[in-house]
Amino acid sequence: MKFFIDTANLDQIKEAQALGVLDGVTTNPSLMAKEGITGKDNIIEHYKKICELVDGDVSAEVISTDLDGMIREGEELAKLHDQIVVKIPMIKEGVKALKYFSDQGIKTNCTLVFSAGQALLAAKAGATYVSPFIGRLDDISTDGLNLIADIRLIYDNYGFETQILAASVRHTMHVLECAKIGADVMTGPISSIEGLLKHPLTDIGLEKFLADYNKGNK
Ligand code: E4P
Repeated sequence: MKFFIDTANLDQIKEAQALGVLDGVTTNPSLMAKEGITGKDNIIEHYKKICELVDGDVSAEVISTDLDGMIREGEELAKLHDQIVVKIPMIKEGVKALKYFSDQGIKTNCTLVFSAGQALLAAKAGATYVSPFIGRLDDISTDGLNLIADIRLIYDNYGFETQILAASVRHTMHVLECAKIGADVMTGPISSIEGLLKHPLTDIGLEKFLADYNKGNK
């Protein structure tokens, strides 16, 4: 399972990269705005900085909602760095854009996916990644993990190569459950990754080992 971090915060990206288990980064316009990155030129520069910090794929989202605009923006983004994945919303024009980029050999991430039908369409159009937003489904009392399981089943039935990128991951249990279901990738905050390493028995055990070592080496 690949681990992506869902942020535009360079310090958090550096921290996750330093852990040695980071496979990529996802961003969106809201995450950029949260870091105060506004205006096309600044956003472009920020994507370049992110690509320099990590080895893996970096999702960069288009703002246009018409096909020509998405193609123009996506081609511009893809030229920035070979790690860039063009993030396209799941709308009618977006499906056409996914097909266009797939034919051009440009990697895509189909975002704002909330149903298995949308995920099926994204795969048919040749998306590299599909991003079902599990946390936002949970927020409206719909089980986001069920959606991951449904998409896994459908993709396996037909051998679709589109990778399931579980997005809107909020916590460690989301990560674990997605891993059990077989999501290819998860993207979440750094806390959802670091939470995996925590266990009170590890802390208690380590404290005892160190205390015993110190007793014997006085
Ligand atoms: C996916 O790529 C999105 O950036 C993200 O996972 C959305 O998460 P949120 O629901 O926590 O905003």
